[in-house]
Amino acid sequence: MATNHKSLLIDAKSARALEMNNLRLALVNTDHSASYERWVQADTRGFNSPERSADEARGMMDGVAYRRVTGVYDDSAADPATPVGTVSSWPGPLTVPGSRAVQAWAISSVTVSPTHRRRGIARAMLEAELRTAVASAVPLAMLTVSEATIYERFGFAPAAMAADLTIDTRRARWVGATPSGRVHFVERAQLRRDVDSLVNSWRVQSPGEILAWPRLWDLQLGLATDEPDSGKHLRAVRYDDENGQAQGFAIYKLKEDEQDYSRHTATLTYLLALTPDAYSALWQHMLELDLTATVKAPLRSVDEPLLWQVDNQRAIEQRHHDHLWLRILDVVGALSARSYAAPLDLTIAVTDDLDFAAGTYRVRNAVVEPVETATPDLTMPVNSLSALYLGGVSATTLRDAGRITEHTAGAAAAMDTAFRSPQTPWLSLWF
Ligand SMILES: CC(C)(COP(=O)(O)OP(=O)(O)OC[C@H]1O[C@@H](n2cnc3c(N)ncnc32)[C@H](O)[C@@H]1OP(=O)(O)O)[C@@H](O)C(=O)NCCC(=O)NCCS
Repeated sequence: MATNHKSLLIDAKSARALEMNNLRLALVNTDHSASYERWVQADTRGFNSPERSADEARGMMDGVAYRRVTGVYDDSAADPATPVGTVSSWPGPLTVPGSRAVQAWAISSVTVSPTHRRRGIARAMLEAELRTAVASAVPLAMLTVSEATIYERFGFAPAAMAADLTIDTRRARWVGATPSGRVHFVERAQLRRDVDSLVNSWRVQSPGEILAWPRLWDLQLGLATDEPDSGKHLRAVRYDDENGQAQGFAIYKLKEDEQDYSRHTATLTYLLALTPDAYSALWQHMLELDLTATVKAPLRSVDEPLLWQVDNQRAIEQRHHDHLWLRILDVVGALSARSYAAPLDLTIAVTDDLDFAAGTYRVRNAVVEPVETATPDLTMPVNSLSALYLGGVSATTLRDAGRITEHTAGAAAAMDTAFRSPQTPWLSLWF
């Protein structure tokens, strides 16, 4: 993960805009614990979470210190050391179709204090992030969102969806394969040692996945020292193939039903499988847990083989929702980073209110170049191109929704054939 993003200069245009309102945009020194701790508490407060103890704040500070951490300060406020706006960002690899990666500017921790809302602080921070990404030659930005209504105006669109599953295990009988490897219970600390290599093997072949940060796995496994009780209810299992090679794992917690001890609920917090056998064995383990009536599995793919491995798909309720939002900043850089499923030769006019990506581009397979033409095959806002980027959304659907204009008959269908990804894009975490 690149580190020079932390020392890039603050964006002058947003700094000026905020200064006009007597506000100050500043980078937070992540080595300076007093101001950094105030930033962490402001971020936490912004998401309506409880105030962090000194230990918890220290854990968060260590966990996100690799990020570029920015605050907006009101020096006239009663507590001027606590920022009224927070944002953090970092560049990292995003997997794109073709088992390739593109650098993407991840944006997180976007909060504005309720005392300062709707005065343009979030806009100043976000535009600053996008300009900083462009200045660093990063071709797209990405985020996961608390509310789906905020980011379209900045050029973002949902590009990978997720499904929250609720499985009635009494009605969903396993009819998939029973692989010859073994599922083992493992100590969480033991699994922590294997997690990075398992997850990274998976990440580089799964469009939509990003490189996670170390603290995420400490938290997933209940091993973060500042949250000592969080692991109590977690169970960890690992699947080893017939050669004893680890090929996947699942982390879950169980909650009993106080009225009926035979109706526990298992919440699957993470399941990763490098092989179809690992996938089958781990899901079979989950569905056949005794004393358990429900398995909840949030943030799964919208295209789970599991649906075809039970005798009753209706026993699996699915709630689909937008998850990974992308914003292309450099059309040539972004589109030439991925591979295409079919030959393509299209001219696409892109509109962009913030002007980063505006222009007309000829896309010939993965060769992308700006062109001068008054007759493009398709015209679309940068949001639509960003939605289509990973192949998780169809161009014909966006055309029918009025979000793409088709000037040449068949152009949207041709785009679909080429942009399609054999693996449905999916991001398995929040950031
Ligand atoms: C969402 C939040 C960051 C907005 O901050 P803000 O400084 O009030 O936003 P701004 O004044 O810069 O508004 C920028 C634009 O977004 C719009 N907007 C802001 N919050 C919005 C919301 N919750 N829903 C829809 N639109 C919103 C504004 O109307 C404005 O639109 P315009 O510029 O097109 O006229 C702030 O309300 C907040 O901290 N909320 C709680 C934490 C959160 O949800 N963060 C987002 C994490 S993904």
